[in-house]
Amino acid sequence: MADKTIQLKIKRQPNPEVAAYWEDFELPWRPNMNVISVLMELAMLAKTKDGKPTTPITYDSNCLEEVCGSCAMLINGKAHMACSALIDDLEQPIKLEPLSKFPIVRDLAVDRKVLFENLKRVKAWIPIDGTYDLGPGPRQSEAQQNEEYPYSRCISCTCCMEVCPQFNEDTGFVGAATIAQVLLFNLNPTGQMQAPERLRALMGDGGIHECGYAQNCVEICPKDIPLTKAIATVGRAVVGQAVKDLFTT
Ligand code: SF4
Ligand code: SF4
Ligand code: FES
Repeated sequence: MADKTIQLKIKRQPNPEVAAYWEDFELPWRPNMNVISVLMELAMLAKTKDGKPTTPITYDSNCLEEVCGSCAMLINGKAHMACSALIDDLEQPIKLEPLSKFPIVRDLAVDRKVLFENLKRVKAWIPIDGTYDLGPGPRQSEAQQNEEYPYSRCISCTCCMEVCPQFNEDTGFVGAATIAQVLLFNLNPTGQMQAPERLRALMGDGGIHECGYAQNCVEICPKDIPLTKAIATVGRAVVGQAVKDLFTT
């Protein structure tokens, strides 16, 4: 048992201007390790499998309990949260690569600001700030809270965008996570006031009609968010809003 090791192949890229390359790593196995704990140990080790000194691997992480959404990467070719990827569940050598649909920052860290731009596009918030106390919001039944809750579980990991065939530069598609947030805020009794604006933001280039219903998103989502249900519900609402606008403008 003492000789058991963990073998890894990690894609390195010091900055976006230089070509990526692979480095091999080896470290002793311990029980209950996950990909982040291995990356932490490699930072202390600072050498490759063949003993060559190397720099610590850059990656994003924060909560270490699949809540912050920052540690998404390709693990053995599949988009996954590194903090919840247990070493004992992975085939070795474990291949780590950055998400492929987002600009590289360094090594395993990518720039996922496109998701936050998309959330801004659809006003994925409830405007409650003001110069005076607005008081408590409307009461919601338990049934209504239960309907909204699954969509509030999104951790902005972007895994659904990584696997979506329609999320690319040609379509400019906003992706499933943004559409699910439109549903969340439109279901909310206070958020409903901005519902038409959110629906209109999903018309036109990059909007909801770009979705090809491939359903990759719902399969990969680490929070089991019913993304295809959200897309279908919001899709109907967008069509309804377009018809309403036709007769009122
Ligand atoms: S259903 Fe398919 S095309 Fe639509 S958002 Fe999900 S993965 Fe993308
Ligand atoms: S919908 Fe799921 S896969 Fe997409 S960003 Fe949110 S948590 Fe991640
Ligand atoms: S470190 Fe926060 S989700 Fe993995």
